Amino acid sequence: MGLFITFEGSEGSGKTTQIKKAGNYLSKKNIPLIITEEPGGTQLGNELRKLLLNKTSLNIFGKSELLLFAAARAQHVEEVIMPALRDGRVVLCDRYCDATIAYQGFGRGLKIEDIHRINDFSSQFLKPDLTLFFDIPVDAGLKRAVARISQITDSPAEDRFEREDIQFHMKVREGYLALVKNEPERFRVIDASRGIDEVHREVCSHLDKSIKRLRAKG
Ligand code: TYD
Repeated sequence: MGLFITFEGSEGSGKTTQIKKAGNYLSKKNIPLIITEEPGGTQLGNELRKLLLNKTSLNIFGKSELLLFAAARAQHVEEVIMPALRDGRVVLCDRYCDATIAYQGFGRGLKIEDIHRINDFSSQFLKPDLTLFFDIPVDAGLKRAVARISQITDSPAEDRFEREDIQFHMKVREGYLALVKNEPERFRVIDASRGIDEVHREVCSHLDKSIKRLRAKG
């Protein structure tokens, strides 16, 4: 059985850069892996991603949004994640069930118990072995995210969430920190306000430890 590692963080935390660097690091060690993301990772997921994230006038209520993320996840788990794990690969996944608790639960204010039930159903109870949470103060993260979006000129910006107000993003961060507190053994909190290379070194050390543990289990 492979190893399932998720990358979580607030807007502008740099986790997408870090997941790519982590993938390169493991590839150089000849560790079989895939990098994937939510919403996305499948054809259906990519279509749902456009609906959920692109600049659009589409009116999406909180509950509908929750179920669209869940639909993308159900497809992703069955079509991509589970087969890769059965194949013995390391799966590096950019966001997963914790994002739904943080954004739709804490951010949008939907009931946390409902989200847990929907997460369990859509993920078939598949939990990450390790979750790296890239933490950055909300104002610093939003500044980075806005700078990134303003550079995008050739494709529609995925900015539906970045456009939410600062209170929304503060609730999202609070949500992540509550999740970390509930499951300290699964999470590692990484100070993402530091430079890319320093953060990468810390990511590598967590990956190395997890892989060593997996190998020790046989
Ligand atoms: P991502 O591609 O990670 O964007 P970013 O580069 O801004 O971190 O995630 C897409 C957005 O989708 C992000 O704003 C968080 C949101 N999201 C949810 O609201 N719920 C979810 O369940 C998931 C997976 C993502």
